[in-house]
Amino acid sequence: MSQPLRFVLLQLAAVLLAFWLLPRAGVLDQAITAGLLAAVVARVVHDRRWWMLIHAVFPVAIVGALALDVPPWVWLVAFVLMFVVYSGAVRSRVPLYLSNQHALGKLSEHIPPNARLLDIGAGTGTVLAWLRRQRPDVQLSGIELAWLPWLIGRLRLGKAATWLRGDAMALNLGGYDVIYAYLSPEPMADLWLKLQQEWQPGSRLISNSFAIPGVPPDEIVTVEDWKNSRLYIWHHR
Ligand SMILES: C[S@@+](CC[C@H](N)C(=O)[O-])C[C@H]1O[C@@H](n2cnc3c(N)ncnc32)[C@H](O)[C@@H]1O
Repeated sequence: MSQPLRFVLLQLAAVLLAFWLLPRAGVLDQAITAGLLAAVVARVVHDRRWWMLIHAVFPVAIVGALALDVPPWVWLVAFVLMFVVYSGAVRSRVPLYLSNQHALGKLSEHIPPNARLLDIGAGTGTVLAWLRRQRPDVQLSGIELAWLPWLIGRLRLGKAATWLRGDAMALNLGGYDVIYAYLSPEPMADLWLKLQQEWQPGSRLISNSFAIPGVPPDEIVTVEDWKNSRLYIWHHR
């Protein structure tokens, strides 16, 4: 059973249990109780500890949101927007966040002249739009899973890049000199296995922030940004 489905089922169970335990309590007390009950069980039911925090806060946040008395259509619009931006993350477990200028500057230093670069999980095209201006020698490609970021990238980049919509894990990664990835810890092991089959000698993988478990990088570049992020680089020789 997927983690989001576990989340929904556990929340429902905790809310019902809180109603049953405290039938006469105020709704806020019931929400706090439901959150605490869910948080305790979350430790066993989920794969990561941070689910406990989400479970604890969620029922209280719902009560707070209802108290705001916002028209229902606002929630509908917010839901649709979240869905088109983040629904892919339910499957891929990689949400959208963007490379910053510091990381892009360091990335550029590690792209050879006239390279063919592919951004896997290209988001809204931030990386390619920046490289289009700063590195006109580079042949740019990107692939993005989620529809809305892909559409924004499409409008933003025009013909400046090969801009694909789909699953990077289904694309042959063989025709590129540089593969740039800013994903999450989740897909890195699978990405490495895929590269073993497909990448060409002379090419390199540059991963922003996320290492590959058990595979030491050939280079680590420190990005001087607020979170002290790193670029991990592997060369295929
Ligand atoms: C952290 S964002 C990075 C965006 C952009 N590369 C940047 O650095 O600004 C990761 C993006 O990868 C996308 N993504 C995750 N898994 C993917 C996959 N298997 N194929 C294509 N895109 C994927 C997500 O939808 C998300 O937009």
